[in-house]
Amino acid sequence: MSKKDLKFYELTLFERLQRLAQESGVVLEDLKALSGKDGLTPEQADHMVENAVGVFSLPLGIARNFLINGRTVLVPMAVEEPSVIAGASFMAKLARAGGGFHAKADPPEMIGQLQLLDLPDLETAKNALDAHRSELLEMAAAIDPVLSRFGGGPRDLVVREITSSPIGAFLVLHLIYDVRDAMGANAINTALEKLAPRVAEISGGRVHLRILSNLADRRLARAECTIPLSALGFDAYSPETVRDGIIEAWAFAAADPYRAATHNKGIMNGIDAVLIATGNDWRAVEAGAHAYAAKDGKYTSLTRWEKDEEGNLKGSLEMPMAVGIIGGATRVHPAAQAALKLMKVKTASDLAEIIVSVGLAQNLAALRALATEGIQRGHMSLHARQVALAAGAVGSEVDRLADQLVKEKAIRSDRAIEILNEWRK
Ligand code: MEV
Repeated sequence: MSKKDLKFYELTLFERLQRLAQESGVVLEDLKALSGKDGLTPEQADHMVENAVGVFSLPLGIARNFLINGRTVLVPMAVEEPSVIAGASFMAKLARAGGGFHAKADPPEMIGQLQLLDLPDLETAKNALDAHRSELLEMAAAIDPVLSRFGGGPRDLVVREITSSPIGAFLVLHLIYDVRDAMGANAINTALEKLAPRVAEISGGRVHLRILSNLADRRLARAECTIPLSALGFDAYSPETVRDGIIEAWAFAAADPYRAATHNKGIMNGIDAVLIATGNDWRAVEAGAHAYAAKDGKYTSLTRWEKDEEGNLKGSLEMPMAVGIIGGATRVHPAAQAALKLMKVKTASDLAEIIVSVGLAQNLAALRALATEGIQRGHMSLHARQVALAAGAVGSEVDRLADQLVKEKAIRSDRAIEILNEWRK
């Protein structure tokens, strides 16, 4: 059989990279950093964090079949958990049969917060800040000329009153700041620190905290997909059983925070993996996701699954997506650069649209498995491969040993070593 007839997963690691180059049109040289062989160096790490002693690696795989806004995207995912990449790829294939994912990101507006304390009168301070709104916005616009040149900068100032807190009532000033293709933490924190003295003067109070909010609810990303009913059935499960089972599973998460936490964790399996592969701050997106999931006062599912008029399964996901394609680790990390090239993202919004689509696919993968055969079957064969590797299997032994462990329903390292020793006698 010639190489071109082989499926992606049947190729060797290097052949997969070559296939990626062919499929994406990105030159192989530019993708080599994805192989992990010339990724982040310890010297680069030493410039990124304190007390560096080295770098830490994770598996990097490619989710396939994604059709997002009419464009095929090969999605790099850095994740240690088995089944995540396979699950995303398979669900992307089902979604492709229904036209793929339709995704849209809001303009990249972040929120920065100034906490205003020691105000003699909140109403007077609020009026003073409102009266100086234009002056403060002009000041903010002059802080980062590069950002302004690219069309970013301050968009609004909003005064909020915190009516009750452990230290009583106080004001918060929100600076709405368009950060263009950056994640924006640095840009907004710099702007806040520069504005703070003038805000203190105007309000007659003391500015305490000056920091962005990770509840980036002005920077939401949304994805939708429709899975044709006919694509849903498998083995003994009818399409209707799978569809209705997924909707019932979603309803559980919609109603119960205990389930919603796990349901949303499954979404973040996919989202974090792309965030990490692109050098983005996954803790920031995690924080925003969970805060947004509780925006109506009760923690709930970030996705929604329903039946459309034709009986197909329709899914959607909306959540904050503060991601960047410039600055920070994204700029320094060679694999992050290669990941962005592979996906051909031109703006932070393009990346947000890809990531939210992956999150929706990942949720579908989990719900489809949970609503039918359970997640252990898929997990087990990959888990068995890890056990086989840890037991010392090499080359073709890995898959053979994993199959044997699954067949024996004994996915344990002692049994793996025993089998290997028998084979090698
Ligand atoms: C495991 O990493 C993720 C799941 O628990 C998600 C879910 O339960 O929806 C399978």
